[in-house]
Amino acid sequence: MWHSNRLMKALGIRYPIIQAGMAGGVTTPELVAAVSNAGGLGTIGAGYLNLEQTRASIRKVKQLTNKPFAVNLFTPETPEVVEKDVAQANEWLRPFREALHISEIPEVKEEHAIIFEQQIQVLIEEEVPVCSFTFGIPDADLLQQLKVEDILVIGTATTVAEAKANEDSGMDMVVMQGSEAGGHRGTFLGRFEEAMIGTMALIPQAADQVTIPLIAAGGIADGRGVLASLILGAQAAQIGTAFLTCAESGANDLHKQAVLNSREDQSMLTSSFSGKPARGIQNDFMIKMKKYEPDFPPYPIQNTLTKSIRRLAGQQQRTEWMSLWSGQNPRTCQGQSAKDLLDDMIRQIEHMAS
Ligand SMILES: Cc1cc2nc3c(=O)[nH]c(=O)nc-3n(C[C@H](O)[C@H](O)[C@H](O)COP(=O)(O)O)c2cc1C
Repeated sequence: MWHSNRLMKALGIRYPIIQAGMAGGVTTPELVAAVSNAGGLGTIGAGYLNLEQTRASIRKVKQLTNKPFAVNLFTPETPEVVEKDVAQANEWLRPFREALHISEIPEVKEEHAIIFEQQIQVLIEEEVPVCSFTFGIPDADLLQQLKVEDILVIGTATTVAEAKANEDSGMDMVVMQGSEAGGHRGTFLGRFEEAMIGTMALIPQAADQVTIPLIAAGGIADGRGVLASLILGAQAAQIGTAFLTCAESGANDLHKQAVLNSREDQSMLTSSFSGKPARGIQNDFMIKMKKYEPDFPPYPIQNTLTKSIRRLAGQQQRTEWMSLWSGQNPRTCQGQSAKDLLDDMIRQIEHMAS
């Protein structure tokens, strides 16, 4: 169970530990390569990268490791832009822009799936070994293009129904994202509120219903969590928040410190930053914007509207307005190097499993 399983063989990794793709600059090539070099699977979070950045990031990782790694993409969502709703959201966001001296109001354009399709071509051209997705299942022909090139495809699910949908689509594996998880919810079928299942309940139920390998995610930050995931029926654990705090991560230092100094009861779900529910450390922005959440434009429109606020808040050291994504297990995170984190987890598992 611990030394070898179907997933580890397919991915070509020594340990059943996956560093989550975390879009927004967290997953530097140094972080991804450090995890892969230490025997896990590093993942480039390419959700917000353009084509040049995606290619450059992949090439840099290849320079730093000859081990397998993954690229994570966002299955596109293309909601209609309703000008009236955008104007209303801008009005609610105005006090933050004024305080941060942001004079420009971002232009919101209709989203197109074309960048995503081109990203997939980049992955094929660069012969990336593994591609993972969140926010839904891509069109069958796109998945097929990856599969014929022997690129392993991994989906994300937050319920058993979503796990089955991933299996039916031909995904090779699926990340089961529990409600403890930091960052955005991957929910794509039904209501978000009904898909808040804890990792411990989600994994065994999914294991009984699907046959593709499961990857547990949400609240796992050390060897205890990894081993528990395997016992529950997963074949690997995907870890986000703990890797975010690592030295090689590109997260803003204020973000890292906020996670390292936070408690299990401080992260909340919010859709105020992006229009899609995500877990982060509660701050002034989340508290003030909560009442408007039902009326904010959907993801990714709201994400575009708050982008400069989040960026400038980071530059001006105003953590109260930054998106401080974090899972529910921050006390276990230690902010060491990625290799030390992986080595510590392995030692812990070996001790417990022996
Ligand atoms: C800062 C941050 C960014 C994230 N970005 C992504 C992403 O781009 N794609 C994705 O599939 N998951 C993303 N996630 C979610 C992770 O894949 C994973 O579900 C989660 O980190 C697991 O919970 P944990 O944070 O408690 O380890 C992100 C998580 C964090 C903390």
